[in-house]
Amino acid sequence: MDAEDQDSAIVCLFCNECFKLAEMVWTHCVSAHAFDLLKIKRMHKLDFYGCIKIINYIRKLKPSPESIERVALPLPWESDEFLHPTLPNDGLLQYDFDDDSDVEVDNNADAANNQEASIPYSQYLEIKQRLHQLENRAHCAEANLARALEEIDQLRAVAQNVLLEDQPEGQSRSKTGCATCDKAEDDPYFSSYAHFGIHEEMLKDSTRTESYRDFILNNPAVFKDKIVLDVGCGTGILSMFAAKAGATRVIGIDQSEIIYQAMDIVRENGLEHVITLLKGKAEEVTLPVDKVDVIVSEWMGYFLLFESMLDTVLFARDKWLKPTGCVYPDRCTLCLVALGNSEKVEKKLGFWDDVYGFQMSCMKKSVCSEPCVETTDPKDEISSRCKVKVLNVNSCKLNDVQFKSAFSIEINKDGQCSAFTAYFDIFFEKSCDRKVNFSTSPSNSPTHWKQTVFYLEKPINVTQGQALEGFLSCTKSVKDPRSLDIIIEVSDVKTQKQLCCQSYLLQ
Ligand SMILES: C[S@@+](CC[C@H](N)C(=O)[O-])C[C@H]1O[C@@H](n2cnc3c(N)ncnc32)[C@H](O)[C@@H]1O
Repeated sequence: MDAEDQDSAIVCLFCNECFKLAEMVWTHCVSAHAFDLLKIKRMHKLDFYGCIKIINYIRKLKPSPESIERVALPLPWESDEFLHPTLPNDGLLQYDFDDDSDVEVDNNADAANNQEASIPYSQYLEIKQRLHQLENRAHCAEANLARALEEIDQLRAVAQNVLLEDQPEGQSRSKTGCATCDKAEDDPYFSSYAHFGIHEEMLKDSTRTESYRDFILNNPAVFKDKIVLDVGCGTGILSMFAAKAGATRVIGIDQSEIIYQAMDIVRENGLEHVITLLKGKAEEVTLPVDKVDVIVSEWMGYFLLFESMLDTVLFARDKWLKPTGCVYPDRCTLCLVALGNSEKVEKKLGFWDDVYGFQMSCMKKSVCSEPCVETTDPKDEISSRCKVKVLNVNSCKLNDVQFKSAFSIEINKDGQCSAFTAYFDIFFEKSCDRKVNFSTSPSNSPTHWKQTVFYLEKPINVTQGQALEGFLSCTKSVKDPRSLDIIIEVSDVKTQKQLCCQSYLLQ
């Protein structure tokens, strides 16, 4: 044995002979001392701790092998004192006793009676070694497979980059669309769409998905024999509806990794001969066709415009839509309504007036500066509803998505106006035999967009019949173009007194 081996050598239980492996000690004990520890283990049904104790007991009290064979209950090594190692770094204590539960050492007289297979111990060691080798090979094979899969992913990314770099100059980066979002800003955005959860939530939003389905499947004239572009195809659901509606060709684009799932989904449904999926930003990909007849997209974010994905749809429209073509949905409206002083408001803002007996009302300013995406109880509405923005998606310009709109509402209940809530309506109408629309208003079935609530730092006292007017302005945040800076200004129509002017960041 070399020095290292000496350090790790295991000394026999009954003499000073040393061995490399615990198995060798067991064999030696059987042949040299007629002592079979594994047999004793089975005889007394010793568990792991029992085995540790008997080894420490033998090492400490040095009983003869024969006396151990004859021990009666209670076992002399039962005390917990024998859990402490007698020898430091005792290799026998590291032996996996559970592994040996079925092994019979040669010459075991009980074996035949117990119907257990009996093999020479040396053969058992050989089999065990072979098993270890096979296990190692299996681990190596698994590791190789994981590496190969990783390499396939990397190759896919490289191939994608090569394809993108192959695009003619001028097509690779757009001055429009979300060119305002640089890669660092966009990566987390597209990563968020890579997870199945967000798509599950959208697909399960039946108001949303069934409206798209009903519009597409019930308007064959719009889709039959047409080339359709699905901007931001996600799982490919709209592309598949379009294929089902008779489109000759459907092209789906998505920059998120979810598109790889979409590719499998399309194949799973046998639609790969109709649907072509492109991984990339719509602002950067090259389409396999010059122009398309129809663009469908589900681009709406919270407060309609959060995420700025409409920019991408307008980019696609201006680049690829035939003059006779149409974008769907083709119209959308954004609406505002005043909310009274509900229990919800009390919980949200009143909380800061008494926090474990302390006042934290200064926190209300920050709390109120962030709009809340939450459902509004229609019973909390205290005014008429007012459209603050109408967008015709077939004709609007990029500038239209940043705006300052006047609005006026009439209060229909005395009390306090403590918030405004915004929602949007979506229309599929142009050239449609069967028009479809859906609303995200508080009085409609809730959607995953809920409503966007703008809490007021200082509630406004209002009376029934009072007319309020004001402005809502919405601009892209300078720090993050997918976030929105929103300002709500309100005045009393009669007195012209300004009642509130509050700014919000929807991020
Ligand atoms: C709201 S999801 C809609 C997914 C799918 N159309 C549906 O209805 O279930 C929007 C999708 O558009 C993709 N997307 C957003 N902006 C994009 C862009 N500029 N280029 C490519 N894909 C984009 C996102 O990755 C996301 O998967």
